[in-house]
Amino acid sequence: MAQQEQWKSKIGFILATAGSAIGLGAIWKFPYVAGTGGGGAFFFLFITFTLVLGMPLLMGEFLIGRKGQTNPIDTYRKLASNPKWGFIGKMGVFTSFILLSFYSVVGGWIILYIVKIVTGGLSVQNDEQYMHLFEDIISNPFSTVIAQFTFMLIAILVVSQGIQKGIEVASKIMMPALLILFIGLVIRSLSLDGAMEGVKFLLVPDFSKLTSESILFALGQSFFTLSLGVSVMVTYASYLPKTQNIPKSAISIILLNTIIALMAGLAIFPGVFAFELEPNAGPVLIFAVLPAVFNHMPFGMVLFLAFLILFLFAALTSAFSMVEIIVASVTKSDATKRKKYTWLTGILIFIVGIPSCLSYGVLSDVKFFNKTVFDLMDFTVSNILMPLGALLIAVFVSRFVSKDVLYSELKQGSNIGNIFFSIWFVLLKYVTPIAIIIVFLDVVGLFKWIVNVFN
Ligand code: PFF
Repeated sequence: MAQQEQWKSKIGFILATAGSAIGLGAIWKFPYVAGTGGGGAFFFLFITFTLVLGMPLLMGEFLIGRKGQTNPIDTYRKLASNPKWGFIGKMGVFTSFILLSFYSVVGGWIILYIVKIVTGGLSVQNDEQYMHLFEDIISNPFSTVIAQFTFMLIAILVVSQGIQKGIEVASKIMMPALLILFIGLVIRSLSLDGAMEGVKFLLVPDFSKLTSESILFALGQSFFTLSLGVSVMVTYASYLPKTQNIPKSAISIILLNTIIALMAGLAIFPGVFAFELEPNAGPVLIFAVLPAVFNHMPFGMVLFLAFLILFLFAALTSAFSMVEIIVASVTKSDATKRKKYTWLTGILIFIVGIPSCLSYGVLSDVKFFNKTVFDLMDFTVSNILMPLGALLIAVFVSRFVSKDVLYSELKQGSNIGNIFFSIWFVLLKYVTPIAIIIVFLDVVGLFKWIVNVFN
């Protein structure tokens, strides 16, 4: 069997996993699903799900990944001593594939915005025109498909270099730069007139605004931003040396990811209220609001360009992890096959993603279950495949891997005690699966419905 590569440094692993986590989910999707899902109440739920469900699951994925030291499909087979369990890994590969097919579309939009700024196309617009500009940009079938291809090309070029030379080096530069720029952006947004209204919208919960759909979205969102339920974290942890402290790494990643989501919200909602835009504008939100926020400041377009470049990096580091799980599974960690299969995977994903790309333009009328191809893919991945994957992983780790194996794996690199282990185990064995099932099946909605019928 081929020798498994390893991360070169502890911080390299944290930044690469944080890089997988932080991406379109925290920066682009979080503000708009929070905007449509009820603002503060959504944020509260998102944080709760992240801590109570996301944290145990992330640790679970890390533990089995490092224990397995191989690709995700074989990890499940090996740890359960039963080849049948490989299907969880296969499902992760499939989910990643579909996910990246539409994720790369949004990555392409960022590239198009960058090109627009460099060619001077953004600076002449006034605030209201940004919305139309965005719609014009994403409905052009040629440029969007070329941009989507460019995004995939960068991902292919980096992942084909392997994890140390490609993913680790790229993440080490991009992640800290993103954090610094975000801090500046939040300060700027908070100084806008009427900023407090946006802050209130994001942070003060009004639970009457929650619906069962927004609860499902909050759950999907917390898994989506942490890249959970897809076995991507299992894959990244398989390159971990035994000296890494797993609980500490999980906490750092969750903190970083939550801070970025919070900062994205704080950068956007003050602008939404200051410029009288709609918080529930949907996917357009970040692309229409941020240019307006930047436009009103000195060197605004230069800073917006810097932001977009880092935003692109954040999306790319997430894309790397999606390609990596597929490549690791197909090549079975044989480095000689990496280049060929990275290219093959990348090109196939691009082709499958073309209808999603066109669904904002020429295919906008093609709908299934009342959703465009893009929305259907997103809904299937974020609200069905990822929670289902998360459920299976929680059940697998807590019921099919020996408790002793988990405990001794957790102890390596950390001096965590028995109590921490027991709390983690109970959360993973009971709380995570039950919560996912409740949200999934809308048990609460069903209950209300039954009560209504009998009243
Ligand atoms: N966590 C990424 C983001 O928030 O953009 C998306 C993601 C990456 C989800 C990898 C799942 C995954 F396996």
